[in-house]
Amino acid sequence: MTYTPPPPGSKIIIVGGGCFGLSTAYALALKNQYDIYVFDRQQIPAPDAASSDINKIVRMDYANDTLYMHLTIEALGMWHQWNEERSQQNLDPVFHRSGVLLLSGKDEFSSFEKACMKNIREAGYGHFIKEYQSPEEIVEDFPQFHHAVKQGFNTAYLNKAGGWCNSSEAVKHMYQKCIDHGVHFVLGDEGCLKNVYCDPKNPDTVVGIQTADDTIHYADRVVLTTGSWTAGLVNMHNQVVASGQQVVHFSSPQNATLNASWEKLPVWCGDLSNTGYYGFPMTPGGKMKIGKHSSGYLNPREVDGVSVPRTQVTHTTDTLPIGALREFRQFLGNFLPETSSLDVSFGRVCWYSDSIDGDFVISPHPDYKNLIVATGDSGHGLKFIPILGFKIRDIIEGIETEYSRAWAWRDMSTQDTKLDGLRADSLLQRLLLDETEHARMATPDEFKASRPRL
Ligand SMILES: Cc1cc2nc3c(=O)[nH]c(=O)nc-3n(C[C@H](O)[C@H](O)[C@H](O)COP(=O)(O)OP(=O)(O)OC[C@H]3O[C@@H](n4cnc5c(N)ncnc54)[C@H](O)[C@@H]3O)c2cc1C
Ligand SMILES: *[C@@H]1O[C@H](CO)[C@@H](O)[C@H](O)[C@H]1NC(C)=O
Ligand SMILES: *[C@@H]1O[C@H](CO)[C@@H](O)[C@H](O)[C@H]1NC(C)=O
Ligand SMILES: *[C@@H]1O[C@H](CO)[C@@H](O)[C@H](O)[C@H]1NC(C)=O
Ligand SMILES: *[C@@H]1O[C@H](CO)[C@@H](O)[C@H](O)[C@H]1NC(C)=O
Repeated sequence: MTYTPPPPGSKIIIVGGGCFGLSTAYALALKNQYDIYVFDRQQIPAPDAASSDINKIVRMDYANDTLYMHLTIEALGMWHQWNEERSQQNLDPVFHRSGVLLLSGKDEFSSFEKACMKNIREAGYGHFIKEYQSPEEIVEDFPQFHHAVKQGFNTAYLNKAGGWCNSSEAVKHMYQKCIDHGVHFVLGDEGCLKNVYCDPKNPDTVVGIQTADDTIHYADRVVLTTGSWTAGLVNMHNQVVASGQQVVHFSSPQNATLNASWEKLPVWCGDLSNTGYYGFPMTPGGKMKIGKHSSGYLNPREVDGVSVPRTQVTHTTDTLPIGALREFRQFLGNFLPETSSLDVSFGRVCWYSDSIDGDFVISPHPDYKNLIVATGDSGHGLKFIPILGFKIRDIIEGIETEYSRAWAWRDMSTQDTKLDGLRADSLLQRLLLDETEHARMATPDEFKASRPRL
């Protein structure tokens, strides 16, 4: 199917008002030549969107995937710009340069961290890196990790340029920019896409969308930025799959010393490529989030086996799988043992749109005319919200770039799944959510520290 870029004056419907959709709408709006609509089935920020969260990592440490390293560096400039424009409006910063501390294996860096440092230095950004020369040096800067270092996470480097963003607030910031630039929004039930709508005489030509209330909204081009829901809305030929990932929070400890030291934590990765665990400083509201980047869980729907997100919006009592909770407790017992005496205050499954090779999938859809998909975030997209839309706009406008090439439609075999090369369980045995005892949801009682055995 050949793709034709939208001529000036085109009406463009973007479905999904998360990171990918809003960033795209804003970049398109800056051209002043399109009529742009964003549809979302919820108010923005949508409570169960991947983009809606207290915080997300902003890291440029991408081993050999230098495309994303450069894209992060471009985004970092924009994050600082956002902080500046917010400060002029008396708003809190959205980007926090806490540094990213990559703790790694026993006495030697893992190959991921080695490749990160090598590529960052070769690109001329070596001044961002503080490579620790001994375990004692790590503890001197970050006494919070004295136990982790003793347990063998005793090599590390700090990337001083990285940190975390206030994720939901960044979404709101981009939402406001879209409104200021004339983007139209259709939100709530009226904004819920049922299916893309094709010309009855040309069934492979998309001419708009049909919403849940059966209204047809015509458009010259439709862009699907529906995150992990995408594969459930249009045939993605297994190039992306919704995978459920695990997050827990702890509340501030009743110990002022510990409290203060957790507020000063950097973003940390605990041998990320081998364990998957990462975490954040405690927020001013007293929440400390820890997550695991893994191959995750699947939730296949009955009709066709396509994995679809299952969230606390539809399943209000969902937490996270008991097996995942056990593994968190076990890892943290070694790594940050002070958490062992704390209740888990919140837990959830959050959904990635995982592509087979970890690269985004941003491309005209091969089966349809006038339909572009922008998804496959693979769990690392939010850091790019200030900049990603400009790259997506190039693809919509048919401009070839290194990004359009990397994110082009690829007919990959699921047997070649390697994800982003950064998952702890590279063997890829994805459990079906709720199907086994290991994958059932943990009960609130099991979140308590007083539970002697899980
Ligand atoms: C646990 C977890 C941790 C992560 N950590 C990081 C991190 O540290 N750093 C980082 O950079 N990235 C991180 N990510 C990845 C990041 O969150 C995603 O890359 C990014 O949020 C994807 O944005 P999106 O717009 O594609 O999807 P979403 O934010 O999920 O947005 C999709 C939107 O589509 C809407 N929608 C869905 N179906 C329909 C429909 N039928 N009709 C209308 N609207 C619809 C939804 O309501 C939603 O608003 C993490 C993700 C998860 C799950
Ligand atoms: C995110 O920003 C909002 C608005 O400024 C603020 O209320 C909230 O506390 C911030 N969250 C974090 C984790 O800093
Ligand atoms: C990065 O590339 C180098 C050189 O090709 C290779 O030796 C190394 O294993 C790669 N590292 C990772 C983490 O992919
Ligand atoms: C810990 O910090 C939180 C906020 O970060 C604060 O509300 C709480 O009072 C503090 N507790 C103690 C014991 O210092
Ligand atoms: C508070 O935490 C600090 C640091 O972990 C610890 O040394 C101290 O014993 C704790 N105090 C109390 C009263 O538990």
